[in-house]
Amino acid sequence: MAADSDRHFADLDSILDRHARDPNALLQILRETQECCSYISAAAIGRLSAALDIPRARIEGVAGFYSFLHLQPHGEYRVLFSDNITDRMLGSQALMDEMCRQLWLQPGKVSEDGLVSIGLTSCTGMCDQGPAMLVNGRAITKLTHQRVQEIGHLIRNRTPLSDWPADFFRVEDNIRRSGPLLDNRIAPGDVLRDVIESGKDIVAAVKNSGLRGRGGAGFPTGLKWEACRNAPGAARHVVCNADEGEPGTFKDRVLLNRHADLVFEGMTLCALAIGAQHGYLYLRGEYRYLLEPLQAVLQRRRDNKLLGKNILGQPGLDFDIVIHVGAGAYICGEESALIESLEGKRGIPRNRPPFPVTHGYLQQPTAVDNVETFCSAALAIQMGAENYRAIGTAKSSGSKLISVSGDCPRPGIYEYPFGVSVRQVLDDCGAVNTRAVQVSGPSGVCVAESEFDRKLGFEDLPTAGAFMVFDDSRDLFEVARNFVHFFAHESCGFCTPCRVGTAILKQTMDKIAAGLGTQYDLGEIEHLDHVLQTSSHCGLGRTACNPVLHTLKHFRPAYENRLKSLVFSPAFDLDGALARARQMTGRDDAGAHLKTEGV
Ligand SMILES: Cc1cc2nc3c(=O)[nH]c(=O)nc-3n(C[C@H](O)[C@H](O)[C@H](O)COP(=O)(O)O)c2cc1C
Ligand code: SF4
Repeated sequence: MAADSDRHFADLDSILDRHARDPNALLQILRETQECCSYISAAAIGRLSAALDIPRARIEGVAGFYSFLHLQPHGEYRVLFSDNITDRMLGSQALMDEMCRQLWLQPGKVSEDGLVSIGLTSCTGMCDQGPAMLVNGRAITKLTHQRVQEIGHLIRNRTPLSDWPADFFRVEDNIRRSGPLLDNRIAPGDVLRDVIESGKDIVAAVKNSGLRGRGGAGFPTGLKWEACRNAPGAARHVVCNADEGEPGTFKDRVLLNRHADLVFEGMTLCALAIGAQHGYLYLRGEYRYLLEPLQAVLQRRRDNKLLGKNILGQPGLDFDIVIHVGAGAYICGEESALIESLEGKRGIPRNRPPFPVTHGYLQQPTAVDNVETFCSAALAIQMGAENYRAIGTAKSSGSKLISVSGDCPRPGIYEYPFGVSVRQVLDDCGAVNTRAVQVSGPSGVCVAESEFDRKLGFEDLPTAGAFMVFDDSRDLFEVARNFVHFFAHESCGFCTPCRVGTAILKQTMDKIAAGLGTQYDLGEIEHLDHVLQTSSHCGLGRTACNPVLHTLKHFRPAYENRLKSLVFSPAFDLDGALARARQMTGRDDAGAHLKTEGV
């Protein structure tokens, strides 16, 4: 026992040394501690607290925030089934039940012998090859009954993960349609070399290309880089947002796997443009398996003088990139929460303004951009602004990667010029009898058949990339219910309207699902949306009601068929009830449902 704890402390010390005992690296230190010791013990917290000079309570607060970190033993094998709607459509629930039966276990509990725990996690970004799971953080795709049985046996026999069949961990790129970005032949350093030799103004080139951010909001990238370059301050930072947590989105996974050099080239061009010396790639925990390959690419770039001191022999041109791995918190995709997380804190969005371009990492000017944005910036600079703008539409230049999943025979990555119609994508992926498409994930838009001629682009349907297809066998109420469960689970809890509102929304949808909802509940959801829109601190709260409102608009019968009608006795005093409801709530419309539902 003593030998065990001595070994763990030795491991802890080497983790601390690797991170130069920097309190800002707390999340990385905690993650690595768990990787080596299986959970973060009270003794480990004591050791970290002393070494980093951080109170225990703060360390526990940070560890408790991230769903992949555990302060209690959580099983030698920690199995998490991906709970996105597309995994469910592929049968994930039955597979999880089967595994629980096989291992004599209840979901969410650790087996009595401490061997295994089985639970759920939000979308793991493998929707094109689901159902998927994570075992000790490693992604396993294409689950079948047979595969689940085999995994059960491997766990029972305590087979180390490194001896499991490699095929289980294979992640396909599934590129179905490529364009200028995926077909690019840019060799590492090409664009950088050209810019340095020609003295090209990077900010002007990106501004002229019309490039807009690919992470969802579509802010003009050149303007962001210019604002960051002009912000006062000595030190500046470049951050690549590879958190990719929006359910149904997996295009950044493919770019990181296939075009890592282009991602890093884009980050280095940004660094050159704004005068940054430090870069960070924030990689979502679910993509942990990409860490070593990405580090190898970084090392190759250092060896080739594309990173480090005096890049390409230019005195004073210094820039390097470190990779920071997340730990299971969707909110860390929001740029200010991401920065908090990079600083070793809980991922709680900051007040904005000030924006990261002036007050980002360590309150210093920081450009945060999506993986695809950095790749597209490098491509746009290489192609020239005019050629780049010739692709796409007037307000949405260039091409966009779309992650297609759900009811279609060819899920995967499709690259299109902006302006492609929903119908075209459906045709290309072979979807038939489509009832609806969820564009840009749960926080996006549900598009019904009557709108399939709408176009993907900032003019009409902006998208971070998700394109989930639902055919006419699907119940759109259940789709919306899955999405509101997601928001309730992922709300960071910082502001009351979102913390309470997403929980109420989830309960209301569960109540309707159980056949206990009434028209009143539908009215309350609209009221809740107003509250969340006007008082949420960040985009998660503001968009949490979208899935319900959009599906209500197009598929109201899916809700109404589940509602209960109220039947009042003739003696019921409706006017009195309305007056009391108004008095209690202070709202003029209180109890209005009684009028519409009462008979
Ligand atoms: C709740 C929430 C989650 C987000 N998740 C991501 C994400 O996973 N990846 C991403 O690039 N942007 C995400 N964003 C957007 C970022 O805040 C930010 O706008 C983006 O990283 C800017 O990069 P871009 O200009 O290249 O799009 C999210 C925003 C919100 C409100
Ligand atoms: S809106 Fe929700 S996710 Fe955003 S800060 Fe508030 S509680 Fe957190």
